[in-house]
Amino acid sequence: MEIEFVAAGAAVPEKTALAVIAFEGQPLGGAAGELDKAAGGALARAAAASRFTGGKGQTLDVLGAGADAARLVLVGAGKAEAFDDLAAEHAAAAAYNAVKTSGLTTLRVVLPTGKDSAAPRAALGVRLAAYRFDRYRTKEPAEKKPSVAKAQIVAADADAALSAFAPFAALADAVAFSRDLVSEPPNVLYPAEFARRVKELERLGLEVEVLGEPEMKELGMGALLGVGQGSIRESQLAVIKWYGAADKSAQPVAFVGKGVCFDTGGISIKPAEGMEDMKWDMGGAAAVAGVMHVLAGRKAKVNAIGILGLVENMPDGNAQRPGDVVTSMSGQTIEIINTDAEGRLVLADAVWYCQDRFKPKFIVDLATLTGAIIISLGNDYAGLFSNNDELSGNLLAASEKEGEPLWRMPLPPQYDKNIDSVIADMKNTGGRPGGSITAALFIQRFVNNVPWAHLDIASTAWKKPSSVPTLPEGATGYGVRLLNRMVQEKYEG
Ligand code: BES
Ligand code: MN
Ligand code: ZN
Repeated sequence: MEIEFVAAGAAVPEKTALAVIAFEGQPLGGAAGELDKAAGGALARAAAASRFTGGKGQTLDVLGAGADAARLVLVGAGKAEAFDDLAAEHAAAAAYNAVKTSGLTTLRVVLPTGKDSAAPRAALGVRLAAYRFDRYRTKEPAEKKPSVAKAQIVAADADAALSAFAPFAALADAVAFSRDLVSEPPNVLYPAEFARRVKELERLGLEVEVLGEPEMKELGMGALLGVGQGSIRESQLAVIKWYGAADKSAQPVAFVGKGVCFDTGGISIKPAEGMEDMKWDMGGAAAVAGVMHVLAGRKAKVNAIGILGLVENMPDGNAQRPGDVVTSMSGQTIEIINTDAEGRLVLADAVWYCQDRFKPKFIVDLATLTGAIIISLGNDYAGLFSNNDELSGNLLAASEKEGEPLWRMPLPPQYDKNIDSVIADMKNTGGRPGGSITAALFIQRFVNNVPWAHLDIASTAWKKPSSVPTLPEGATGYGVRLLNRMVQEKYEG
């Protein structure tokens, strides 16, 4: 998707759809009002004849009414008072979705005048909405393919808008990178291939170190290695480093991702129905890779570490059994009750390694950890678990601004005994009640005095048909945006 910022009067290219904003509960105003006047009230009549009220997410396609444009789209943006940058982003994304396969090639978006910050966000909205994973389509008919290849966002100062868009372009690239990883099938994206793709990010100025099984064995990572031992694919630990702060020795921020490239459940095997979804059990690692991508892409003034625990959880003659006891890098032993509770085992070693080696300012881990978080929060919210109110507050504030919903969950000390084992230091499941909470409490046992947050993104890593215009069905890249925003606002400089 090509992005341009243009002045209001710029000549309209051929085959352009023009999108203008309508607010809920008020007559057509701004660009929509002017076009309506020029068309003798035809737009208002079209809206009235189609239950278009300007509500958020509504679009009304009016053919032949776009003045110089081939097509006009009225985009509902909800209440005018609530029209912020996120609303501009969603409106532009909705406009793109309405015309993407229309046969037209350019989308011009006219935003209500006033805020300079809205234009780059609108461009971001189009970029995110236009994401597609096309690598394995060989026979799609041309008329089904998106035709809109360029977005022109009208801005008061087009040059300023273009410069302001640069960090958002880096963000869109990073989200696409993350979505690609999650979309790839598990025969293609196994741990070593994931690590290889991350290694390629060195072109952005990141340093990437990849540990294989011998190195992890040396470090004593028995929890992570136990998960991968049934797979013919070698487990990997990718360590991504970005030293963007003026002081390269300043304490880094750190992100850790669950990268289970495929989760069959192992010997505690999952039912066949829906098992293919477990290719996206590496969504946490993909989000962390995406965060590092955007930090480097926009040259963030921060030191940051991203650690990806990459494994495949398979049943096999050599696979881990329920009943096995493994020793983690921390020295703590874990009785395996269910081999399908594997993500926390991967994180146990990855999180420990992170705090031990890098002594970070904080650790945020991301993981498609539990089905129970979907039961708790449904499919829009990820769960936040944290030992630190300040870090939680920063995450929640960023989540709000980026439209990546997050809800804080408790870490009740009295539930911690649910993961005590009769024969080892702990067991890897705590029963069905509060399944996401006991999973988080498990990870907490591998966190010392560092501020830590765990994001259970099993609910948000993948969208089935989606109502959010910037999330096409499939991989979402959840987490990249909110962590990028948090770093930008709270930890840079
Ligand atoms: N990867 C799954 C969690 C998951 C479920 C992610 C659905 C996305 C959608 C995780 O490894 C898992 O299997 N968790 C078990 C834990 C249980 C065995 C304690 C679960 O949630 O059922
Ligand atoms: Mn599992
Ligand atoms: Zn899993």
